[in-house]
This record gives sequence, C-alpha cells and structure tokens, in this order.
Amino acid sequence: MRLLLALSFASLGLVACGNANNASMDAQAVASRIQKVGSVQLQSAGGGELRSGEQVYQAQCGACHSSGALGAPKLGDNAAWGARIGKGYDALLVSALKGKGNMAAQGGGAFSDLEIGRAVVYMANKSGGNLAEPKK
Ligand code: HEC
Repeated sequence: MRLLLALSFASLGLVACGNANNASMDAQAVASRIQKVGSVQLQSAGGGELRSGEQVYQAQCGACHSSGALGAPKLGDNAAWGARIGKGYDALLVSALKGKGNMAAQGGGAFSDLEIGRAVVYMANKSGGNLAEPKK
C-alpha cells in the first residue's frame, strides 16, 4: 500500500513537471510571436520604409492610370492632366486621398498620406506638370 502511494505521488509529480514544461514552452512561443510583431512595427514606425511615388503608382494607381480605365487621366497624357494640374497640388492630393468620381479613396489602396502625395507628384510630373516633391 505504501509503495502504491509513493508510486502515484511520483506520477503526479511527473504530470506536474510536464505541465510546467509545456507552460514555459508556450510562454516562449508567445514571446517569439510578440517579438515578431514588435519588430515589424518598429520598421514602419522608423519611416524609412515609405514607398516612392513610382512604387505606389506601380502597385496601385497604374491599374487605371496606365490604360485610362474608368475614365482615369492617363499617365503621360499632358492634355488630360493639364487642367487638373492647374488646380494645384493640394486639390489633386485631396482627390487622391478622398477619392473622386470612379476613383475610390487612395485609389482603393492603403498608403500613408505622404506616399499618396508622392504618387500624385510622380503622375503629374510625367504628364506635363512640374510639382515639387512633397515633404510630409
Ligand atoms: C479604380 C481606378 C483608379 C485607380 C486605381 C486610381 N485612380 Fe486616380 N483617377 C481615377 C479616375 C476615374 C479619375 C478621374 C476622376 C474624375 O475626375 O471624376 C482619377 C483621377 C485622379 C487624379 C486627378 C484628380 C483631380 O482632382 O482632378 C489624381 C491626382 C489621381 N487620380 C491620383 C491617383 C493616385 C495617386 C492613385 C494611386 C494611389 C490613383 N489615382 C489610383 C481612377 C483611378
């Protein structure tokens, strides 16, 4: 009887140990997952990863503005862009940020305002404009 009790305590101990191990593994797994998320946030918060106007254009805006789909003014079509550019950078930026006609806000993408601004300047300057590169 004594032996049996001792044995069952021993196995209880093993079970407890096993649980403790699992718990610390879980904690490690959670910690490494949190770390990954944290490092991604650091990169984007650094601000160095913002895309250029050309990159944004190719990723998002070209879908309509390279072909003129849905009535979009085409890249390089100075006549189509002339009157628009004449409204000034701020007006163009507002249209691109908030959407206009068949164009959704941000052209349907998810970018920072500065990236959208860069894309606006990229397109305008490829289409007869001479806008300054936005700083913010
Ligand atoms: C789904 C198609 C589509 C996409 C994608 C798209 N556009 Fe447009 N865009 C349009 C159309 C259509 C117009 C003309 C809107 C109008 O004047 O009614 C337009 C017009 C514009 C204008 C001129 C606005 C004005 O006030 O005259 C700018 C600037 C512009 N787009 C920027 C962008 C930028 C920057 C992107 C990418 C981030 C983008 N567009 C992506 C369809 C698109």
